[in-house]
Amino acid sequence: MSDHDVDDIAFLTGSPGESGYMMSKRAMYEPGSVMVCSQKRACCVVTLGFMAVIGIALIVAFTKPGCPEATYTGEPLPGMGNHPTGVPPTTPATATNGEEFPWKDVRLPFHVRPLSYSLRLHPNITNQHVEGHLTIKLTAIEETSSVIIHGHNLNVSHYSLRDKYDQPIKIIKFLVYQKHQQLYLGLSPILRRGSNYTLKINYETALKEGLEGFYLSSYKTVDGEKRYIAATHFEPTSARSAFPCFDEPHMKARFKLSVIREPHQLTLSNMPLASSIAVDGTNLMRDEFMESLEMSTYLVAFVICDYTHKSNVTHNNVNVSVYAPPGMIDQADYALEVATHILEYYQKFFRVPYPLPKQDLIAIPDFGAGAMENWGLITYRETTLMYDPVETSAQSKQLVAVVVAHELAHQWFGNLVTMSWWSDLWLNEGFASYMEHLGAGEAEEGWAMQEQFVLAKIQPALGLDSLLASHPISTPVHDPAQIEAIFDTISYKKGASIIGMLESFIGRQVLQEGLKLYLETYQYSSADTDNLWGALAKTAAQMNNPVDVKAIMDTWTLQAGFPLISINFTDGHVVASQARFLVCEENMTDPNEPINSTLGYRWHIPLTYITSADRENQTMVWMNLTDVEFEVGQDVEWIKFNVGQRGFYRVSYDAQGWQTLTNVLLNNFEELSSADRASLIDDVFTLVKAGRINASVALDLTLYLKQETEYVPWSTALMHLLSWARLLFNYPAHRLMLRYILSIVQPQYQRIGWQDKGSHLDKLLRTKLLNAAIECGDEDAIREAKKLFTMWRKENVTIPPNLRSVVYAAGVKHGTEKDWHFCWKVYMSSSVPSEKRLMLKALAQTRDPWVLQQYLEYTLDSTKIRPQDVLTVLAEVSRNPGGRLSAWRMVRQYWDRISQLFGHGSFTIGAIIKAVTSPFSSSFDLNEVESFFSGVDVGPGERALEQALETIRLHIQWQDHNLQHVTNWLNDCFEERTS
Ligand code: BES
Ligand code: ZN
Repeated sequence: MSDHDVDDIAFLTGSPGESGYMMSKRAMYEPGSVMVCSQKRACCVVTLGFMAVIGIALIVAFTKPGCPEATYTGEPLPGMGNHPTGVPPTTPATATNGEEFPWKDVRLPFHVRPLSYSLRLHPNITNQHVEGHLTIKLTAIEETSSVIIHGHNLNVSHYSLRDKYDQPIKIIKFLVYQKHQQLYLGLSPILRRGSNYTLKINYETALKEGLEGFYLSSYKTVDGEKRYIAATHFEPTSARSAFPCFDEPHMKARFKLSVIREPHQLTLSNMPLASSIAVDGTNLMRDEFMESLEMSTYLVAFVICDYTHKSNVTHNNVNVSVYAPPGMIDQADYALEVATHILEYYQKFFRVPYPLPKQDLIAIPDFGAGAMENWGLITYRETTLMYDPVETSAQSKQLVAVVVAHELAHQWFGNLVTMSWWSDLWLNEGFASYMEHLGAGEAEEGWAMQEQFVLAKIQPALGLDSLLASHPISTPVHDPAQIEAIFDTISYKKGASIIGMLESFIGRQVLQEGLKLYLETYQYSSADTDNLWGALAKTAAQMNNPVDVKAIMDTWTLQAGFPLISINFTDGHVVASQARFLVCEENMTDPNEPINSTLGYRWHIPLTYITSADRENQTMVWMNLTDVEFEVGQDVEWIKFNVGQRGFYRVSYDAQGWQTLTNVLLNNFEELSSADRASLIDDVFTLVKAGRINASVALDLTLYLKQETEYVPWSTALMHLLSWARLLFNYPAHRLMLRYILSIVQPQYQRIGWQDKGSHLDKLLRTKLLNAAIECGDEDAIREAKKLFTMWRKENVTIPPNLRSVVYAAGVKHGTEKDWHFCWKVYMSSSVPSEKRLMLKALAQTRDPWVLQQYLEYTLDSTKIRPQDVLTVLAEVSRNPGGRLSAWRMVRQYWDRISQLFGHGSFTIGAIIKAVTSPFSSSFDLNEVESFFSGVDVGPGERALEQALETIRLHIQWQDHNLQHVTNWLNDCFEERTS
């Protein structure tokens, strides 16, 4: 499972594997000295601004009588039952001027709602300063004496409120509460229920290098000149740091934006440009955009840059454009092609039109996430958008298609209909993660995206969800840190998996019709999980297939974990029982105690199977919170449950059952589909990990792999086998394990060879097998890789794109310090994002401790390693046995800096903890990790820390249980062969 998690990280940072995601969301260690002077200036601005705010607030406070408390009497807020957080605040809320802040909740009251925003921005990239003039049209839902709105690090210089007759409403108090990032305006007279008002706010803020809010990024031109761009990333709670707003997803409004820029630049926003006019008395231009549709604040976006673009038009006349720095625009063709194709496909799939006139996709050089679905202006990391057919691997090409498909799915699921509150984030992310594979599969038919779904979503989600430290898909969240923390494998991958499972029993047609109903019912508005279940149930009933969707799906969304189905099969009679599966034994004494689930850890399970008597047609049996028994016929020799691993559960057979299925694989593996083969491998290895079956059962099953030719089962098997090899690192069986893996890889290694040819899946498989051969020390593979590396280095011979990750990594691992520096230079100078990424990973493979230490230290210098890439470097160095202790030391040494920069609203902190601790497997390591973290506040990384500790315990458990069995099996295996 640790491997899943690390891959997770790799995904969000750029290679398909997990998304667990993840990413560096904030400028990590301090930017270099370049910025110092301007930061000081920014500090002065901030300080002066706050003094002004405090001054105004004090004057107001001393000249007017106190205003009535803001009390909320209206409807419950979305996602919170009756009282916002449900927890009465314990500490008094103190505004910046020392006064009590009258509104105590981290959620905004609902007595005022925005109708539209008009925002005029004047960003100055040179002096890193933004001036904003904001007009918000509001409506009062309830009579109220206050307006409470979000704002974060904004220096408000002026505010006014007028009624619909343009008569001023006095603002008798203005307070700033930094902890909840809220501004309070106390009013007289009170606002009348049902009336509209206009609020104007002028403010200033700093425009700094970073990864959130409105921030500066930069790139180098082909001539090496540094160019700045300004971009936004608001999800989930950073719109408030760019302009005052009602920063909650259900508070939708229309946005009209205007931005001042220099003549050589261009600006982009959600909507098309309406006009561009010169600003009097300056050589500046003002770009004004068309007003948006009703949308959430977190989806607002604007970018100021000097990029070029390529465009296309869909059948329905939507303009699709990809924007990139001029030196990279040649790498934009593929994204443009798939985006156009997938946008057209989604319009057919949802049968709800894409409502905007344009869709822009833009590469941002410094970008915390993988991509962000801002409506009409999707922002990407360079690696998730740029593709060069001569340079980029099949895996990176797939990443582009998948990320494009994911973000386009959000244009409907998330943007048109938005979750009412973040506790239903999975509706957005789970759904987009499900659609990713449909969209990419439509664009690229030969990629087997449905089978890859098992690998990319179901397996990693099952891996994480078998920890006691997992959480239900629907989880209450309140503050920004909690919100960030649920952008995780559970929301994304378990979310996608259970939608896939739902489709398996309601059918594609009901799903599509139900989604159409859901989208049409809640468009330009927001919805929650029950609304989705309601629309699907209604549709199913209309289509004569009534299903209690909510009752079934609640068992998957409201409780953590998933069931293990234990099968007993004798004489055609099957007994299948369900119980929660937890992989750590210590949790197993009574896994349901204390029962955190009102559903008692029982599920409605669509149990599917095929049998030797009918391999083509699957049968489905419902386990409705219960166990089941049924007959399959005396002539049945074997049964395979969970067909295609489409269900979110695991299956345990009895000894005879495993033996029979192993024989099927050994004798004629193609009797089972490749997804079924992968599913057996994934289940058997996990059951061994949990100590439920003997390691020999898993190892016996892997013997068939010598014949296996498909990517999905190989990928599953290598993930488990190589993780076992790593767990054996300190033991004599380590070498035997590598030798065994090599023995099963070799026939396929010979078959697939070093020619970069064949189908997309052949290319993915080749990279996996060659990497495995090298990791296991195959001399022929190492020699070949070194040869290609030397030819590339010395004679400038191009390496085919799908061999590059193998060749660079092997070249650095088995090379000299000079080789490392050569690669470093390539990293620093390349303008191909996929190439840079390969270098970043390859550089971590060195076995020279000094060089590795130096590389780790480069993460402290943002001119060498961009903050967005720090996590990748730490994760990759941690995977290198020679680097794991240095990475762990680095994180401890710089913990204060890390936690200061990532600690309050970003899940990066959790990803870092997982990445550096995941290789650990001894009690000594566990104590060290526990004792270090017992003294530090990990903020949003708390759950990730629990998961990391549980993973180390699991590794210890693995060794306790399996070391002897694995060693014996391997000894027997090689003895038999030599005797
Ligand atoms: N909405 C997210 C971006 C995001 C992630 C915002 C985390 C805030 C916090 C976007 O749709 C997304 O999920 N991006 C993924 C890529 C995707 C293909 C898995 C990402 O950023 O990794
Ligand atoms: Zn997403």
